[in-house]
Amino acid sequence: MLSEESAAVVRATLPAVAGALDEITTRFYGAMFRDRPELLDGMFNRGNQASGAQRRALAGSIAGFATALLDDPDTRPDTLLDRIAHKHAAVGVTDDQYTIVHKYLFGAIAEVLGDAVTPEVAAAWDEVYWLMAGALIGREARLYQDAGVTPGEVWRPWTVVERRTETPDTVSFLLRPADGGPAPRARAGQYVSVRVRMADGVRQVRQYSLSSDPGDGLRRITVKRVAAAEGTPDGEVSTLLHEQVSAGDELTLSAPFGDVFLDEPADAGSPVVLVSAGIGCTPMTGILAHLAAVDSTRPVLVLHADRSPADHALRAETRALVDRLPGARAVCWYEHPEPAEATEAIEAAEASQQVERADGAEGAGTEFRSGLMDLDGLELAQDATVFLCGPLPFMRAVRGQLLAAGIPARSIRYEVFGPDLWLPAS
Ligand SMILES: Cc1cc2nc3c(=O)[nH]c(=O)nc-3n(C[C@H](O)[C@H](O)[C@H](O)COP(=O)(O)OP(=O)(O)OC[C@H]3O[C@@H](n4cnc5c(N)ncnc54)[C@H](O)[C@@H]3O)c2cc1C
Ligand code: HEM
Repeated sequence: MLSEESAAVVRATLPAVAGALDEITTRFYGAMFRDRPELLDGMFNRGNQASGAQRRALAGSIAGFATALLDDPDTRPDTLLDRIAHKHAAVGVTDDQYTIVHKYLFGAIAEVLGDAVTPEVAAAWDEVYWLMAGALIGREARLYQDAGVTPGEVWRPWTVVERRTETPDTVSFLLRPADGGPAPRARAGQYVSVRVRMADGVRQVRQYSLSSDPGDGLRRITVKRVAAAEGTPDGEVSTLLHEQVSAGDELTLSAPFGDVFLDEPADAGSPVVLVSAGIGCTPMTGILAHLAAVDSTRPVLVLHADRSPADHALRAETRALVDRLPGARAVCWYEHPEPAEATEAIEAAEASQQVERADGAEGAGTEFRSGLMDLDGLELAQDATVFLCGPLPFMRAVRGQLLAAGIPARSIRYEVFGPDLWLPAS
């Protein structure tokens, strides 16, 4: 709990601190990586450092946590803390490292705010930092314990048993533990970190959602190649995975983590709505595959948006899974529907992959529409749990439509494929 004296000081200085957080976090990372370069090897994501996304996520989370404390000194903003704790566990953060971060963060605060940081102000923000750190350390300890690993020791070698091209810029890797042991338990919707050594010798870590049934002894990830755009380079890890990793190779994977997963059996019979765009389909396919594996009869509505049918990764598999589930139906939107003959060829290829339902019944199937996703006119069960994943502008737009359709905010779970720049404001 934040003490009353500290709350008053934090309230008075929050605007100044929040306003300077960008500069503070820039200096913080600069000084920390200068003194502790080992943290950039196999832990921090240098793409997110270069783009500034991690800096903004850190700043937003501190401001969000402080604001929540001021509203209610006893509160712990669970969504915010869970998201960070799962990400921390997935990169192997340990409790001793909070002292390192504290040193450089508070050094940067003193540098940027100068004389405004009186001992009283420093003590109040110290309290905020350690309340947040304590909440994260506790959650991370539980996550490591549940995963059955020593804190920070999350890595294990896996063998690629199959590599499959899904679309021109997406490949799947099917993996099994290299030591022949069982795959650790994962929940549908969760992700793993992949750690690879880059050409310059530095190891880089990225997260990939599990795109197959996590109850299976194998794991599958599906990776979209991030191509260079105006002023931005090719994505380094996705390019390496596409260009250099094939069947028989070894990859280093973390234990599975992620706070957005299908919660069973707590809401075992309730409807599920899976909403995605582009490569955001991966956790949804994992959830669908899991529902199919347990012969679920839950009502499931799959909503997906993509550029075109040819760009839609795991499209045939998604259709097959929807057909297998008696309570499922799907609607897909394409910005650029293929010309009729191309659609026919895709449909014919997919038809060969369709499976018949064990009960012989026909499912509601998949409907295709053109344009951007538009939920108008769709019947959405008000007690549904909604899973949402895709680019931020897509998620913002669709979340607005879901809220307008009467779905309560607490029922919408979302996954962001990068540092979460949305959460503190939501
Ligand atoms: C929970 C989670 C689940 C995910 N699941 C999946 C998944 O299932 N499938 C999937 O494909 N991806 C997934 N991702 C995204 C994935 O982790 C990577 O972010 C993605 O593969 C890009 O990594 P990269 O190393 O190729 O790109 P990076 O090298 O990290 O680059 C990322 C972006 O930053 C830009 N950038 C890099 N350097 C600079 C610079 N100097 N200046 C300006 N811009 C720069 C790049 O151009 C690129 O646009 C997930 C992410 C998270 C957090
Ligand atoms: C109170 C202290 C801390 C706060 C508030 C904090 C906050 C955050 C936030 C908001 C994220 C982004 C989560 C997301 O993906 O949405 C993050 C990621 C991360 N944090 Fe922390 N963190 C703290 C301490 C630490 C410590 C002690 C370490 C270890 C040195 C650490 C290392 C990382 C790493 C490696 C990532 C992933 C970076 C990336 O993928 O770009 N953090 N943290």
